[in-house]
Amino acid sequence: MTSRRRMIDALEGETLSPPPIWMMRQAGRYLPEYRQTRQKAGSFLDLCYNPDLAVEVTLQPIRRFDFDASILFSDILVVPHALGRDLRFAEGHGPMMTPMDAADVARLDAGRFHEHLAPVYETVRRLRVELPDKTTLIGFCGAPWTLATYMIAGHGTSDQAPARLFAYREPEAFGRLLDVLAEHSAAYLIRQIDAGADVVQIFDSWAGVLDDAAFETCCVGPVASIVRRVKAAYPHVPIIGFPRGAGAAYSNYREKTGVTALALDWTVPLAQAKALQASGAVQGNLDPLRLVAGGRALREGVEAIRGALGSGPLVFNLGHGITPETPIAHVEEMIACVRRAAS
Ligand code: CP3
Repeated sequence: MTSRRRMIDALEGETLSPPPIWMMRQAGRYLPEYRQTRQKAGSFLDLCYNPDLAVEVTLQPIRRFDFDASILFSDILVVPHALGRDLRFAEGHGPMMTPMDAADVARLDAGRFHEHLAPVYETVRRLRVELPDKTTLIGFCGAPWTLATYMIAGHGTSDQAPARLFAYREPEAFGRLLDVLAEHSAAYLIRQIDAGADVVQIFDSWAGVLDDAAFETCCVGPVASIVRRVKAAYPHVPIIGFPRGAGAAYSNYREKTGVTALALDWTVPLAQAKALQASGAVQGNLDPLRLVAGGRALREGVEAIRGALGSGPLVFNLGHGITPETPIAHVEEMIACVRRAAS
């Protein structure tokens, strides 16, 4: 059995020892070879839209660490970009967009959507050829709510107040925006699967700032709509949902959205994670700062996750993306610790 199947088997509910492992943001600034390619590319977006370079940075962490899965190198914000919104990544500032108002929703332009994203599909196609057969290829998109937070504010904020206010003040325009994003995100994922993605992940990084009712309408509803559309085209491709910060609301997110597996952030208690495993696979959830710290903090974190979740369907991962200051030796230690035979 190849480990391409291992990762998929784990997502579909099998208990594997050791669990498959990969890291969110595994291609990134903590790797010197990434920083070098990034410099060659000029801008971050040039890197995302250049298949030669995007393939290269996707493969870098696989060459170094032999992870069980590889995640396409791109960004969630290429979808609003492909709908005609402007996008820049300013050094040290993260993404910058022109903030949207209600009237802009009707001006979203999907006329060249797939043409704009063709370099991403080409990257996926080449990756499936170049990756070892045993390595699962993960495609991804941002969830509509998380995309909307950046489109409305024009940049990242700590509490997403601009998007929350927009949702309360302009519910019709906001609902329309979420619908457009869900429809096109589903089409985007389907094209990634057409091109060779084995699994897809939906990143809802800002799910944790909403009240109960808004979580249902802004997160659950649009993600359920994406899952329905992807499953209609590809019923057997596993879908991982990552509603970061959803807390108690993680508990019926899988049932309500139809995702195959739940990616857990590091604040999800292991007892809750264990209960979530009763209805399917979980992925996570090491605090990325334990990886920065290394040593005992790292070992205890890995062992606690293996101890609590190793007897059920688990994909080992971080609870959010790896941070740029992480020492490479700590990543090696984490992998050794995860793959060490269970005692
Ligand atoms: O995981 C991977 O290795 C695949 C690539 C990937 C990137 N972004 C590359 C990236 C993925 C899956 C993402 C998803 C993404 N992008 C999310 C959801 C996951 C999360 O982290 O919450 C979000 C919210 C974004 C939007 C985004 N892109 C932000 C807020 C930033 C700035 C923060 C930062 O780390 O600089 C980015 C930039 C970005 N996306 C970088 C990388 C490697 C760093 C840019 C650089 O190299 O200069």
